[in-house]
Amino acid sequence: VFANIVRAPEDPILGVTVAYNKDSSPNKLNLGVGAYRTEEGKPLVLNVVRRAEQMLVNDNSRVKEYLPIVGLADFNKLSAKLIFGADSPAIQENRVTTVQCLSGTGSLRVGAEFLAKHYHQLTIYIPNPTWGNHTKIFTLAGLSVKTYRYYDPATRGLDFQGLLEDLGAAPSGSIVLLHACAHNPTGVDPTNEQWEQIRQLLRSKGLLPFFDSAYQGFASGNLDADAQSVRMFVADGGECFAAQSYAKNMGLYGERVGALSIVCKTADVASRVESQLKLVIRPMYSNPPIHGASIVATILKDRDMFNEWTVELKAMADRIISMRQQLFDALSAKGTPGDWSHIIKQIGMFTFTGLNTEQVAFMTKEYHIYLTSDGRISMAGLSSKTVPHLAEAIHAAVTR
Ligand code: LMR
Repeated sequence: VFANIVRAPEDPILGVTVAYNKDSSPNKLNLGVGAYRTEEGKPLVLNVVRRAEQMLVNDNSRVKEYLPIVGLADFNKLSAKLIFGADSPAIQENRVTTVQCLSGTGSLRVGAEFLAKHYHQLTIYIPNPTWGNHTKIFTLAGLSVKTYRYYDPATRGLDFQGLLEDLGAAPSGSIVLLHACAHNPTGVDPTNEQWEQIRQLLRSKGLLPFFDSAYQGFASGNLDADAQSVRMFVADGGECFAAQSYAKNMGLYGERVGALSIVCKTADVASRVESQLKLVIRPMYSNPPIHGASIVATILKDRDMFNEWTVELKAMADRIISMRQQLFDALSAKGTPGDWSHIIKQIGMFTFTGLNTEQVAFMTKEYHIYLTSDGRISMAGLSSKTVPHLAEAIHAAVTR
């Protein structure tokens, strides 16, 4: 019955790893997927995560029962505090409902399914460009996806005027997807003043903000600074969605740990919203897995472990920032044509290099360097040892 089935293309991001794994060159370098690597090019399990896991293993009272549909209660409470701030009035007034989901993607999808079922306006505006999975998540949930201008290739910075125009013209009530910090793929974020203008625009037009927060702590090394945009929107008392991922900031990629929070106007609305989220989740995957959320809760609720985490998180963020400087210096030393200052100006895990599809294909073929075809490189995959190889490949690609 499936004899005529058409082969689907590989995923534009995860497919890069598939191609990388097939390459037998000893010099191959995977700068595709946003996954942190050490200076030795190895995946990193944080010490604090190992410590939390050890504590969990040693605790004989722990069982493998199902979690509630909404997940681990402690994890949900602590996740809301992490993103909205411990002193957030929305939390104190019980206006926030938080449900544990399968990392950022799962949180976005649960939010999208809920909106498709219960919200009056089915149009969502996403930035152009954005993380490739956004379009698919929202479309498959039944929302109609439109884009707003975000990145200006000429300046390799924010097209703020375009953003204001497009969101200003969006039909009232439209949902707006915002990257909380470290915009993926561009590494370009609004300033605090620009965020304030965006907030005023959204609120004055009755647009609904939906934050994707996949990099809290990764952009600046500071958890509070990287949640500033979200907190501005919550401080005004309005509604807001936030999807959190612990993949990057705790290195829990494969554990699939995340949370969806919906900030409502009253505690009563929040509890009714939660009752409906349960109806979304139960037929999808019943209830979420216990292990990763237990690791996160163990770390977030213990002051020492929390502090240890922030130190390790800052070290990851700082290493990425130093890779930016090293790559910029290497290209400057080579005299590679063009202005490469965006490498040090952009923030977070990625640099949006400006390299085109042909140049990317050339670098993969000749230098065994793997990146997404839009020219995005994961700075977290670089090390001092591999920077010269990448600089050489970029130089060759732009001078050929
Ligand atoms: C990325 O953009 O590389 C990461 O968010 C991983 C993913 O799932 O695409």
